[in-house]
Amino acid sequence: MSEFLADADFELYRKLVYDESGIHFSATNRSILESRLKERLRDKKLESLKDYFQLIVKDKEELKTFLDSVTTNLTRFFRNQAHFDAIEKYVVPELIKQRGSGERKLRFWSAGCSTGEEPYTLAMLLKEILPAGWSFEVVASDISLKSLMVGKEGFYADGRVQGVPEPFLAKYFEKKPGGHQIRDDLKKLVRFDYHNLKNDSGLRNLDVVFCRNVLIYFDEAAQKAAVERFWEAMSGKGFLFIGHSESLFGMNTRFEFVKTDWACFYKK
Ligand SMILES: C[S@@+](CC[C@H](N)C(=O)[O-])C[C@H]1O[C@@H](n2cnc3c(N)ncnc32)[C@H](O)[C@@H]1O
Repeated sequence: MSEFLADADFELYRKLVYDESGIHFSATNRSILESRLKERLRDKKLESLKDYFQLIVKDKEELKTFLDSVTTNLTRFFRNQAHFDAIEKYVVPELIKQRGSGERKLRFWSAGCSTGEEPYTLAMLLKEILPAGWSFEVVASDISLKSLMVGKEGFYADGRVQGVPEPFLAKYFEKKPGGHQIRDDLKKLVRFDYHNLKNDSGLRNLDVVFCRNVLIYFDEAAQKAAVERFWEAMSGKGFLFIGHSESLFGMNTRFEFVKTDWACFYKK
C-alpha cells in the first residue's frame, strides 16, 4: 500500500476525476493517479494532498491542468486504417446519397482528438475523396489543453508521421528541421476546441462522430451518457465510430450496429 496516497485520498481524488471527466480510476491504475498527483504537488510546491485538493476545488485552471495530467493521449495518424477505408468506401458515398440535392457540406467531429493526428487524418482523406463542389468541416476537441496546443500548432516530429502515406506527406505537410508541419490550407479545415465529454458540446447536425479510444477510460454510466450526447449532436442518419476494442454492446443505446466489409461502426 502507498504511503503517499492513502485509501481515503485515493477515493477522494478518484471521485473528483470521475465527477469532472467521466474517467474512472480502478485500483489497478491507482499508481498512475499517484504519480500524477506527485508531479502536481511538486509543480505547485505544495506539501500535502489536502492542500492540493483545496487548491483545485477553487482554482478552475489548476483543475484543468490536473485533469489534463491524468489523461492518456496516445494516438497516431491513420490509426486503425479500416475505419478510414469505411469512411471512403461506405460512409461518404452513403452521406452523399442521403443529401440528394441538399447542402453539399459534411460535418465531422473528432471527440477526444488528443494531439490532432485523428482529425488531420480525416481532413486529408476528405480532401482526397470528396467530389468537386463538396466541402467539409472537422471539429476536434479534447480536455487535454497540452494536446490541443500540439494539434493547433500542427508540427509533428519525424517519428510521428510514419503512418502517413508518402503522397499525403508531400501534399499536406511541409518538411521542417526535425519534423513535419501541417500546411495552412489543411489546418484551416480543422477547428480545435476545449470540450469535456461530461457536458453537452452544443454541436448539432453532425454527419460523423469519431470517439475512438476515449470511452475505454470511462465507466459504463459515463460511457452511456457520452453516447447519448453524441446522438443529440448528430444529424438524422449520422455515423458513430468508436475504438476497435470498444463496444456499445449491452449498453442499450438507440444506435444501430453496422458491419461492412471494411469495419464495424454505428448508425443513428
Ligand atoms: C487515447 S487518446 C485517443 C485519441 C484518438 N481519438 C485516437 O483514437 O487515436 C484519448 C483522449 O481522450 C481524451 N479524453 C479523456 N476524457 C475526456 C473527456 N471527459 N472529455 C474529452 N476528452 C477526453 C484524452 O485527453 C485523450 O486525449
